[in-house]
Amino acid sequence: MEKGTLLYEGKAKKVYQTNNDDIVWVEYKDSATAFNGEKKASIAGKGRLNNEITSLLFSKIQALGIDSHFIKKVSETEQLVKKVEIIPLETVVRNLSAGSFAKRLGVEEGTKLARPIVEFYYKDDALGDPLLTEDHIEILQLANIDEVAILKEKALQVNTVLSGLFKELGIRLVDFKLEFGKDENGNILLADEISPDTCRLWDDKTNEKLDKDVFRRDLGNLTDAYETILARLGGQSVCI
Ligand code: C5P
Repeated sequence: MEKGTLLYEGKAKKVYQTNNDDIVWVEYKDSATAFNGEKKASIAGKGRLNNEITSLLFSKIQALGIDSHFIKKVSETEQLVKKVEIIPLETVVRNLSAGSFAKRLGVEEGTKLARPIVEFYYKDDALGDPLLTEDHIEILQLANIDEVAILKEKALQVNTVLSGLFKELGIRLVDFKLEFGKDENGNILLADEISPDTCRLWDDKTNEKLDKDVFRRDLGNLTDAYETILARLGGQSVCI
């Protein structure tokens, strides 16, 4: 597989063409951003950690039967994925109150929710990624009702798998964000990344935050927190 021309550069990743039309080459960057790009930094090693952690988590999720775009890790900071058309929705699952949920609804951070809930946000930087109702999604033609049901179902499946996995490692999965895309046959596949950039992960015993809130809230060393997650997941994933 050959790395071709740059197709797209986002806040955290670069996407390159390959010599196969159905596959793209993703490179994780060392940049950290928060608050819709208002806070920015370059953090050495972050790209490697997110690539390693995402590769491990997608492999585990795939092994349990949830289809995703992930093919394989090809270097410390790079992976190959199936080319998909990203659905412009951020699908968020919450197990405990935190972040924007705690702020918007006045529920104290750390409060366990009676059941996991799913929220959708419009993936649109210019609008600041607003929260959407299902009616908004339908009327803006971002996805149809059946697709919304599939996204919810898949997101809750991922939550079951990841919550169990992290629990065994002494970590609470507080909330996380997923993105989905469609392949050339219209199949909905889990896409993007799953890393401490996109999840809230708290140590079960100490409540220490082991995720991007360390950067958002200036709580200490971000790479130390991400290294802790990678180490508990079993360390470096194999580069095939
Ligand atoms: O900020 P909020 O509480 O809505 O975030 C919910 C979850 O989604 C958090 O785990 C956060 O890291 C993730 N998220 C993300 N990318 C965004 C917004 C939220 O990964 N643009």
